[in-house]
Amino acid sequence: MNGVVNIEDLRKLAKKRLPKIAYDFIEGGTDDEVGLVTNEQAFRKARIVPRYLVDVSVRDQSTTLFGRTYSSPIGIAPTGLAGLFRRGADLMLAEAAREANVPFIMSGSSTGSIEDLGRIAPDHGWYQLYSAKDQSVSEDMIKRTADAGLKTLVFTVDVPEGSNRERNTRNGFGRPLRLSWKGKFEALRHPGWMLEWMRHGTPMFDNWLKYAPGKSADAVADFVGQQNRAPMTWKHVERYRQLWKGNFVLKGIMHPDDALRAWSLGVDGIMVSNHGGRQLDIAPSPLEVLPAIRDAVGDKMTVMFDGGIRRGMDAVVALCLGAKYCFVGRPTLYGVTAGGVTGAATALQIFRREIDLTMAQIGATKIADLGPHFMMWKDEEEL
Ligand code: FNR
Repeated sequence: MNGVVNIEDLRKLAKKRLPKIAYDFIEGGTDDEVGLVTNEQAFRKARIVPRYLVDVSVRDQSTTLFGRTYSSPIGIAPTGLAGLFRRGADLMLAEAAREANVPFIMSGSSTGSIEDLGRIAPDHGWYQLYSAKDQSVSEDMIKRTADAGLKTLVFTVDVPEGSNRERNTRNGFGRPLRLSWKGKFEALRHPGWMLEWMRHGTPMFDNWLKYAPGKSADAVADFVGQQNRAPMTWKHVERYRQLWKGNFVLKGIMHPDDALRAWSLGVDGIMVSNHGGRQLDIAPSPLEVLPAIRDAVGDKMTVMFDGGIRRGMDAVVALCLGAKYCFVGRPTLYGVTAGGVTGAATALQIFRREIDLTMAQIGATKIADLGPHFMMWKDEEEL
């Protein structure tokens, strides 16, 4: 990954490789895409006040989560359809995470299978569940996750309905992906991607293949579309908690009361997240709601975070405000799109180095040193 210095460099490379229809799927938000800006801008309002005259010559960013020690406090969030950006991307992300010793969450709309994840990264792979209309499908996925040897199940709760993603509408994005003549013409300007697509066709939702009535990409995509439109309530949380014996995490919690309710039902952890600004455009950024959620649950449950992290220092801010662990979605997708396993590994290395340097700059030698005592805020009037 010559010449790549930061995540923005990876984003530019990913953009170059992908046709517009695929790049816009990664990058897009909903409605006016205010949420994308909100998520990143929240970090620009944060200030970390450095403390000096501390010996920071030895620094350790390892973090223990659910009894396992990871080398860094940033893991890979679940992102659906990764195989559309590079064939095999889900498992490439898993491999990069395993090598970096951080968690990788396979999406409920992944293009790789739970069983392959169990083979490649049993100690680092987590599985993210989308509740299906046919509960026997969800329950079987939970069983497959356990059978594959994975220890953490993440239930995403912030997709009660599809959202208004206007880039996708304009581009004619659908599942499975089909290219119009105009789309094909545009894609020809991205020959690396186009060749792969011509060779392998549209990628499958591998985990759903088993349940769909037909085995073509169309049949599976239709089935997933029908199954995803299912009501989701706390009853599902109770049921899945009962069935799943490992660590159980809810992803997409944005309100302290929901966090407390999750705790009362025996959930082990939550991810404070607004789905990367892809669901409710007017939602607050996860960073804005993080302190109140952390205050509400204290140390009772593990509070994790994602949304808008593009620099190591952003993760340090989230950790100072009470997150135990951070995840990124787009940055590692840029990496894997740009350069496969090496690209994903590069994204993780960039974060690792930036976190290390931020810790040195502020006088922190370990993650436990971080806390709200480092924080102040830029006056909003001046923004
Ligand atoms: C996502 N995200 C997501 N979340 C989830 O729980 N299941 C999923 O299948 C997906 N799919 C998905 C696809 C793409 C292309 C993106 C960009 C995101 C949301 C993701 O897990 C995470 O919450 C956000 O990406 C975090 O924000 P950043 O790091 O992208 O700013």
